[in-house]
Amino acid sequence: MATITVVGVGPGDPDLLTLKARDAIRNADYVAGFETVLGPVRRWIGGEALPMRYRNQEDVLEQLATYAEADKRCVVCAWGDLNFSAKELLDRVRRRADVELIPGISSAQMACARLGLTIETSMFITLHAREGHEEGLRELIAMLKNRRRNLVVLPRPFDLMPTDIAGLLLEEGIAPKTRLYALERLSLPGERIREYDISLLAAEKSEFSDLTILVFPMHERGDHKVDLD
Ligand SMILES: C[S@@+](CC[C@H](N)C(=O)[O-])C[C@H]1O[C@@H](n2cnc3c(N)ncnc32)[C@H](O)[C@@H]1O
Repeated sequence: MATITVVGVGPGDPDLLTLKARDAIRNADYVAGFETVLGPVRRWIGGEALPMRYRNQEDVLEQLATYAEADKRCVVCAWGDLNFSAKELLDRVRRRADVELIPGISSAQMACARLGLTIETSMFITLHAREGHEEGLRELIAMLKNRRRNLVVLPRPFDLMPTDIAGLLLEEGIAPKTRLYALERLSLPGERIREYDISLLAAEKSEFSDLTILVFPMHERGDHKVDLD
């Protein structure tokens, strides 16, 4: 089977692309990816860009696989790191070719860095999936009832947004005063970090970016350094 290289492009800031990913993109004959994902790497694309949309992703990946079969160097770009909440895209590529993976910096790592949290004391839950988000929600609720780690949660644009999640947690009996942060557009222009408790978040009227991460930290503020708005 032909090989397609999948690279993680980082959380948005073009300077957070790894050198290995940059070289793979620069040397590729074809670079596929969702349009927003190609944004941060566009300057490095030496061959032909194949922008995809949700509707035509199967067609674009099929085309890419035929190029790979013809010994062309083919790259698929994934947002952040390809090992976090990118399974659907990875599976689609894996169905068509062997994959070489070049990891990137995840938005979840960015969130930990901004809040001064260690990865080894954190758990990561994605609700950003077509299937399996109910299980993710159940896990989140169970973990909030038995706190052992920081919880880093990806909402699901646009039907399971931060305010929806907060409302569901209140319905499930999670303490309204439970503290959390909403981190938007990390590493991008307009980055914003806001601190809430769950009841305040449930009542929030302003909209959240589709690039938002929720973090429920274990420790009281002051145990770690945070630059808030
Ligand atoms: C499909 S997931 C992909 C995550 C990606 N693989 C990663 O490692 O960052 C997309 C979700 O990641 C989160 N996200 C990605 N980039 C972000 C950023 N720059 N700031 C905040 N959240 C971000 C948001 O929750 C967004 O809905």
